[in-house]
Amino acid sequence: MTHILSIDEGTTSTRAVAFTPEGRIGGVHSEEIVQHFPQSGWVEHDPAEIWNKTLRAANRVVEDVGAQSIAAIGITNQRETIVFWDRRTGDPLAPAIVWQDRRGAAICADLKARGLEDDVQGRTGLLLDPYFSASKIRWALENWPEVREAAKAKRLAIGTIDSWLIWRLTGGLHVTDATNAARTLLMGLERCTWDAGLAALFDVPLDALPEIVDCAGRIGETRLIGARAIPISGCAGDQQAAAIGQVCLDPGAVKSTYGTGAFLLAHAGATPPVSSNRLLSTVAWRLGGRAAYALEGSIFVAGSAIKWLRDQIGIIASASETAELAASVPDSGGVAFVPAFNGLGAPWWEPEARGIIAGISGGTTRAHIVRACLEAMSLQTADLLDAMRRDGVSPSLLRVDGGMVANDWLCQDLADVLGVTVERPKVVETTAIGAAMLAAVGYGLFADLESASVMWHAERRFEPALDEEARSVRKTNWATA
Ligand code: G3P
Repeated sequence: MTHILSIDEGTTSTRAVAFTPEGRIGGVHSEEIVQHFPQSGWVEHDPAEIWNKTLRAANRVVEDVGAQSIAAIGITNQRETIVFWDRRTGDPLAPAIVWQDRRGAAICADLKARGLEDDVQGRTGLLLDPYFSASKIRWALENWPEVREAAKAKRLAIGTIDSWLIWRLTGGLHVTDATNAARTLLMGLERCTWDAGLAALFDVPLDALPEIVDCAGRIGETRLIGARAIPISGCAGDQQAAAIGQVCLDPGAVKSTYGTGAFLLAHAGATPPVSSNRLLSTVAWRLGGRAAYALEGSIFVAGSAIKWLRDQIGIIASASETAELAASVPDSGGVAFVPAFNGLGAPWWEPEARGIIAGISGGTTRAHIVRACLEAMSLQTADLLDAMRRDGVSPSLLRVDGGMVANDWLCQDLADVLGVTVERPKVVETTAIGAAMLAAVGYGLFADLESASVMWHAERRFEPALDEEARSVRKTNWATA
């Protein structure tokens, strides 16, 4: 039997999944990734840990399904997180600066104050926010002597997690795919090439950046998984991979993924969309040298709020309790939970904002707080969908995925608050399916993404059941918080 191996390196875990060409899971293994919080607003990873655990997860799965059955590998990853390593040794020079990290806020604020945001948005589709990689790179060059020295000596390699993994897997190939490159604030969106003007603006040495390649094709080859040569034939950032895995292949199709953060992507076709409502324009994929685009809304905190309730506050023992707790009360009892742990993403873009729990009374119980936390997922998504509607995208169906959507209560609440049908797939890890679809196309197992879409299967639909007035009250209370 043939399998495609997906490597999905996310913010809190790295996993490997073997898929059959019909989309069935043959094997899966995942490892937790430690997040370091050196100070408020900073988030780091150890690149060596990411590499070692990813390789281990991949090899475990290959042991289960047999190395001979792996036709090709697809890679997908947390986006924007940036790694610095030495070209001569392949060793990391510093911690990885994670997408959630806000240390580039002052650099972005300065460029904004100089009136540069419109120009940057026009070129990249993005806004001047520390979420994207460029201000993180500039901060590292200014503050970490090892990185600066390596740049001077032309020994520096910079890349997002896909680049870092491909470098290690292939023994020194320095590439990134167009979807990951699109998240750096350094790539021109129309041509999918590095923009020298933006590199100069952020003082980023162009010679340290990877070559930008397609999302499918003969990207490279590794001998480190299953001890034989296996082609790496697919690569995309995790949210783009999820959109592909949810078969959002036609303009107007929308998906929302609930992982560490939550990300709403609407397929926009062959021309970059222009948002007037502080959404992002990004590459959905690039195949055969031609890019397709998407409109994106990015929420920085989703699953990490549940993790916070469990690990930091201790009011739940496991995520699976939340559905029952939320259903045990008729409403949140006036509690609003705004999980702005690392600032607010779209459509607000407030890097200095921090979270609040408002409306607490003597009658507030943990069920109310847990319910308000889940409701925040729907209400944050509603902010994005409303911005999308104002930008001219009005879907009647939203495909949802990610670990959190195993929670039926949340899926129903999403349908209620958004006022659209919510559809859940059989395999909620559609990010990994998307990477497998790309790898399968790149390897030649399928002619195109449409044919590869046989790997996706619907499971259940949730229909909106809240009246307009109740919906509007909830949205107003949220907006006030
Ligand atoms: O842009 C950040 C995103 O790629 C992170 O994804 O799955 O770790 O929430 P995830």
